[in-house]
Amino acid sequence: MDLLIENARLVTMQEGEQGYLPTLIARVGIRSGKIVAISTTGQGKDNEHNESLLAPDQYNQAIDLQGKLLMPGLIDCHTHLIYAGNRANEFEMRLNGVPYEDIAKQGGGILSTVNATRKATEEQLIELALPRLDGLLASGVTSIEVKSGYGLTLQDEIKMLRAAKALEQQRKVKITTTLLAAHALPAEYKYRADDYIQHICDDIIPLAAEEKLATSVDVFCESIGFNLAQTERVFQAAKQYGLSVKGHTEQLSNMGGTALTAQYNGLSADHIEYLDEQGVIALSKSDTIATLLPGAFYFLRETQLPPIELLRQHQVPMAIATDINPGTSPFADLTLMMNMACTLFQLTPQEALRGVTQNAAKALGYGGSRGVIKVGFDADFSIWDIDHPADLSYQVGAKRLIGRIVNGDYVSHKGLQHVSI
Ligand code: NIG
Ligand code: FE
Repeated sequence: MDLLIENARLVTMQEGEQGYLPTLIARVGIRSGKIVAISTTGQGKDNEHNESLLAPDQYNQAIDLQGKLLMPGLIDCHTHLIYAGNRANEFEMRLNGVPYEDIAKQGGGILSTVNATRKATEEQLIELALPRLDGLLASGVTSIEVKSGYGLTLQDEIKMLRAAKALEQQRKVKITTTLLAAHALPAEYKYRADDYIQHICDDIIPLAAEEKLATSVDVFCESIGFNLAQTERVFQAAKQYGLSVKGHTEQLSNMGGTALTAQYNGLSADHIEYLDEQGVIALSKSDTIATLLPGAFYFLRETQLPPIELLRQHQVPMAIATDINPGTSPFADLTLMMNMACTLFQLTPQEALRGVTQNAAKALGYGGSRGVIKVGFDADFSIWDIDHPADLSYQVGAKRLIGRIVNGDYVSHKGLQHVSI
């Protein structure tokens, strides 16, 4: 689709301070889902100037943004969007003093969502996910990672991944899927964790790879999840089938999962509240992104802060995601997570925005094509009725999203329409 965007103020999120400052009025040309030209009035961005590529007669559609902010489409790089059931009862239990780990050990927690998810059909899972998906889209999201992990059988993990992929047919959004069969030990394998890991490596990973239902594999490396040796077996199998790896690591204790993820050149190590300096150094020597999940930190009333200052010192890029799930982060709004990253973790609004654009793209393996407004990159944008990008982290719930553009297709969220020319 061809689209000419006129009268936009761009926040490109290209490297450095400059990428965070809104430009003067700009035009952006889109062809076949990619950004082909950018021209900024009065600014010397000659490398991206190409007036002939921006002539209105070259496009069949145009949109006048009337000076509104045009930013990269936001990227939610860690979600558990697909699930059935609800865990408000456990929220209540926790507030009556029962710890999250104890609820899990009593067969609640992840396993209660597993029971409900196994009973649901693929169609039901899609229907249940749509309101949550709509929440994310209304917060400016154009790309979402979705994990399995509430099926824990071959058939139910595959069902979850298919449901996740099917969301692309329901809404304008890009979905990336991750196999998280190693999320919890299913009841059928009680006391046989190594056998379940074998099943994941021998059967679930090969099928997910063969059917192209996932591009990466994740493991919950934790005392209530899987140990380091089991995590490594899953990573090895993933690599064997050409899939990338990711970890839920150092969320409740320091197990060394982050360093292992870095060693396997993982896309990201996520949560990391209990990460120590050694782990941060391991990240700094790899391309693995540190993904912060402030919603889970907040909802579990965690007090151990992730090592933000060490991550800065060692120049480890930080991403931010919702982790939306029924147990630890029931929040379908990525800008709320930006706000929490600032208030709870003391990220700056600029770091928060980088965490849901450029660094989130890297956490999904799309560092070279998404998360930044740049010629050659995917034409994925969010359009905002705000003056400065810091407003995104500052205010919550004010419905400032005007529209989104996904692969060059415009979706109006507030009435501003594009026109055919
Ligand atoms: O990312 N940490 C493990 N998994 C999820 C929680 C899942 C659940 O409680 O249902 C998380 O926090
Ligand atoms: Fe998670």
